[in-house]
Amino acid sequence: MSINTLINNHKTQFDKFFFDLLKANLNSSILSKAMIYGSMNGGKRIRPFLVGQAAKIAKAKKTQYLRVASAIESIHSYSLIHDDLPSMDNDDFRRGKLSTHKKFDEATAILAGDALHDFAFQILSSRLTHNNPERRIQLINYLAKSLGHLGLVAGQSLDLLYENKRNNIKKIINMYKLKTGSLFEFSFSSPFILTNHPKEIIKFYRRYGLFFGLIFQIIDDLIDETKSFKLIGKTPGKDKKQGKSTLLDLMGKKNVISFCHDEINQFIKKNNNYFKKNLILKELLKFNLTRIK
Ligand code: IPE
Ligand code: IPE
Ligand code: MG
Ligand code: MG
Ligand code: MG
Repeated sequence: MSINTLINNHKTQFDKFFFDLLKANLNSSILSKAMIYGSMNGGKRIRPFLVGQAAKIAKAKKTQYLRVASAIESIHSYSLIHDDLPSMDNDDFRRGKLSTHKKFDEATAILAGDALHDFAFQILSSRLTHNNPERRIQLINYLAKSLGHLGLVAGQSLDLLYENKRNNIKKIINMYKLKTGSLFEFSFSSPFILTNHPKEIIKFYRRYGLFFGLIFQIIDDLIDETKSFKLIGKTPGKDKKQGKSTLLDLMGKKNVISFCHDEINQFIKKNNNYFKKNLILKELLKFNLTRIK
C-alpha cells in the first residue's frame, strides 16, 4: 500500500477519535465552535499518522497513542491558527477555507488557539493516556519543552525576524528545526516514551522525527511556490511575497531538491541499523519528496 493510502486510511480513523474527544469536552460557545473550526477542517493529519507508525514499531497501545496524537494535532491546529493571524503570516485561507480569524474574528482566533494548546495538556495529563503518572509527566515535560522558547515558538519568532533579511543555510535550518521539527520530533518519539523504551532508542527516534520535520518544512516551502490554491488550500506564492527566508530562496528549486535527497541518504547511511530493522522509516522519509511531484 502506498504511503498516501496509508495516510488517508489513518486519517479517517484519527478524525473520528479526535472529533469524539473534542465533542466530549467542548460546549456550544463561540470559543468551542472556533476550536472545532480550526482543528476539524481537513488537515492531512501527517503528525498523527507518524505517531501511529511509531506506535507500531514501539508496540504502544492504540487508545494511548491516539490520545497522544490528538494532543499533537490540537497543538498543531493552535500553531496554524496563530500562524495565519494578521500579525504573523496574515493568511486568509487555510485548508481551502477561510482561516479562523477570518471566519470568526481575531480575538476569537487567538483564544481558540490558546484553548487548543491547553486542551493538549488536558489530554496528556489524563490517566487514560497512561496509568503511570511518571510516563505522563515525562510526555508533558517533553511537549512543553518542544513548544516553548526553545522549540516551536522560538522557531516562529525567528521565522518572522528573518523576513526580508539575508540568512545563511545554517540559520534557516535551525529555524526550520525549531518551528516545524520540534513537533515532529515529539510525534515520532512519544510512542517510545509511552512504552518506556531505553534512552538510546528514544534518542534515535527523536533525531529521526526532527530530521523528518526539517525535510517536511523544506518541501512545504517548495509546495508554497509551485502548487495551486486548489491543491494546497492556502495562498500560494505567499513566502516570496512576504520575503520569507527559505532554503528555496537561497538555493533555488533544483539545488534544494538535491539537498533533500543528499541529506536523506546521509541520514539513512549514518543510522543504517535502525533503517535495516524497520523498512518503513526509509519509505516515510522518501514520501516527503513525492509531495512535490
Ligand atoms: C503546515 O503543516 C505547516 C507546516 C509545518 C509546514 P501541514 O502541511 O501538516 O498542514 P495540515 O495540517 O495538513 O493542513
Ligand atoms: C508553519 O510554517 C510552522 C508552524 C505553524 C509552526 P508555515 O508558515 O510555512 O506554514 P504554512 O505554509 O502557513 O502552512
Ligand atoms: Mg509561518
Ligand atoms: Mg504560514
Ligand atoms: Mg509554508
